[in-house]
Amino acid sequence: MKIKTYANKIIEIDLNDLSENSNLLALPALIDPHVHFRVPGAEHKEDWQTGARAAVAGGYTTVIDMPNNNPPVINYAGLMEKKKIINEQLKRSGLPLNYALYLGATKNNWTEFEKCAQQIAGIKLFMGASTGNLLVDKKEDQEKIFAEAARLNLLVAVHAEDEATINNNKQGLFHSVIRSREAAIKAVSQALELAKKYKTKLYLCHISTAEEINLVAEAKKEGVTVYAEVTPHHLFLNENDYDRLGTLGQVNPPLRTIKDNQALWQAINDGLIDIIGTDHAPHTLKEKAKPYPNSPSGVPGIETCLSLLLNACHESKITLNKIVELTHDNPQKIFNLPKNNDLVIVDLDLKKEVKNENLKTKCGWSPFVGRALTGWPVAVIINNKIKKL
Ligand code: DOR
Ligand code: ZN
Ligand code: ZN
Repeated sequence: MKIKTYANKIIEIDLNDLSENSNLLALPALIDPHVHFRVPGAEHKEDWQTGARAAVAGGYTTVIDMPNNNPPVINYAGLMEKKKIINEQLKRSGLPLNYALYLGATKNNWTEFEKCAQQIAGIKLFMGASTGNLLVDKKEDQEKIFAEAARLNLLVAVHAEDEATINNNKQGLFHSVIRSREAAIKAVSQALELAKKYKTKLYLCHISTAEEINLVAEAKKEGVTVYAEVTPHHLFLNENDYDRLGTLGQVNPPLRTIKDNQALWQAINDGLIDIIGTDHAPHTLKEKAKPYPNSPSGVPGIETCLSLLLNACHESKITLNKIVELTHDNPQKIFNLPKNNDLVIVDLDLKKEVKNENLKTKCGWSPFVGRALTGWPVAVIINNKIKKL
């Protein structure tokens, strides 16, 4: 059958068993620059077989994976070992998922950056502790990281929550009180200051508050090379969802207010957000069932993001052009990824509910369970092969 592609070309694809009536469109397959596929060390949460299946089911054929593994990926040997395991697991999955990796920053491993520079998408810096033990919270150590990354023209991706602020709030009862908005605002200001000082390419992971958006807007105006990422959970969930989700909604940085949701949408449509990254961070239901604060932070997201966005498009909150820009064009450019001709075929009119039993991620649950969404991926073309979903 003939399918219209996003760039107004027509392609012929053998998808005979898809209904003639469906409203099909081919988009460039998505790129997710922020996933935690848990290898090595937490394969009971996810591995690259289940991760690749989840990615493709969500319309993604390229991912960039985070280094907060066990052991953390902080040097050349660790990087090579991780690649070897990933390649084996992908081979077994039969899915030629494209991927790149971050190197984790520690307080003294900046001497490794040069060795790894050709092998990585960038450096990942945790300014506040999250899952795993990667943390660089002293400014003098962060300075060395920003300086060396700038010298090598490496991008620095930051988890920007201020460790001291979080620790001062530790007596608080709620996750969003402990990991307050001030913690995020303070760390983002500091990261921007360092990026400006050293002329480092800065990637702000998961910005979640209206104030962070204002800081990004100012920095962009001043010519700082800064890219802002938002996640689906900070766009489509907020504090009101805690009642329903409990610790399933526990994530770093935390879910914020409806006003923050609105500010993030406004920022998307004002052109201040560069990328939608899922921060796919699976934990098992058993782990999530531990009482707070022993429950781990993180939510899966790679399988539902595109459908959430297509549904938002259906509701006129975002255009298709914007979706393609934030999930394909910008990540491709910002991370300088090789071009490919992978596509995702979406049915813009297909209405389906998010169901845990349909998910491919090993953790087997979604914070978006029960949502009826209009617009779903129905097939992916990966490395010139069609994979029907
Ligand atoms: O909620 C989170 N989960 N935030 C992070 O920064 C890490 C992630 C994880 O790896 O579980
Ligand atoms: Zn993070
Ligand atoms: Zn993350």
